[in-house]
Amino acid sequence: MSEPKDRTIDIADTDRIESARELLSNAAQLVSFTGAGLSAESGIATFRDAQTGLWAKFDAMKLASADGFARDPELVSSWYQDRRRAMAQARPNAAHRALAERADLHHITQNIDDLLVRAGADPARVVSLHGTMTRDRCHGTCGYEVTIDMHDPPGLRTCPTCGEHLRPAVVWFGEMLPMEAWTEAERLCLGCDVLLVVGTSAVVYPAAGLIALAKDAGAQVIVVNTQPSDASALADVELIGRAGEVLPALLSSK
Ligand code: APR
Repeated sequence: MSEPKDRTIDIADTDRIESARELLSNAAQLVSFTGAGLSAESGIATFRDAQTGLWAKFDAMKLASADGFARDPELVSSWYQDRRRAMAQARPNAAHRALAERADLHHITQNIDDLLVRAGADPARVVSLHGTMTRDRCHGTCGYEVTIDMHDPPGLRTCPTCGEHLRPAVVWFGEMLPMEAWTEAERLCLGCDVLLVVGTSAVVYPAAGLIALAKDAGAQVIVVNTQPSDASALADVELIGRAGEVLPALLSSK
């Protein structure tokens, strides 16, 4: 899918920015729901961008799957090693910082990078629906988990507890979301006044269903994206622009 050239904020959006700021300033319970577009300006490819370089000939959806791992655990592990090194080099962008600076915000993210926390968000207020690249877990059922040095990520190895392979603690296609994260995300969406949706195509369920859940529970929905998405129909205010440009304008206290 080739992304249209990123647009900056149209001058016509200034009214929309003002109405969005109005909604945000009156919100008692403010929750962000973010996707790969939040980290795009940090140089982390969105999941549906064409894979670059060495990995261009591989289908990311196949690599990020239990079948792909079963078929070639070495290949999948080296793909994650490269992605981890790239994530370690990446820096939080202005959008991460704008979100992190709002200590009253709770964050639900589909992203597996750690940029929101590295930007200063309280980890206790970040729900990582699709897991995290900063940890490995046992591919079996023993529950072993370990934190990874993202600057020097390990290759394929076995679980010290049960001998199964270790794999990134992320949710692969076809796998269940972590129950605790999902339950917390539902609770936050049912209780929020404003849901700020940033950088997601809103096509992957069950995560994308959280937007309608919040809306049906009475929340106002603000969408920030570089192009219309499946969240557009649910938006009370939609701002087409780069997260790194729009979020500082939206969330700054002045
Ligand atoms: N600012 C705002 N939005 C952006 C930016 C940016 N700088 N760059 C890209 N976008 C938008 C794109 O237009 C797209 O609509 O962000 C959206 C990213 O959508 P996807 O690539 O589909 O990523 P996401 O919605 O997070 O995917 C959800 O699907 O692939 C799985 O598990 C993976 O968590 C991922 C989930």
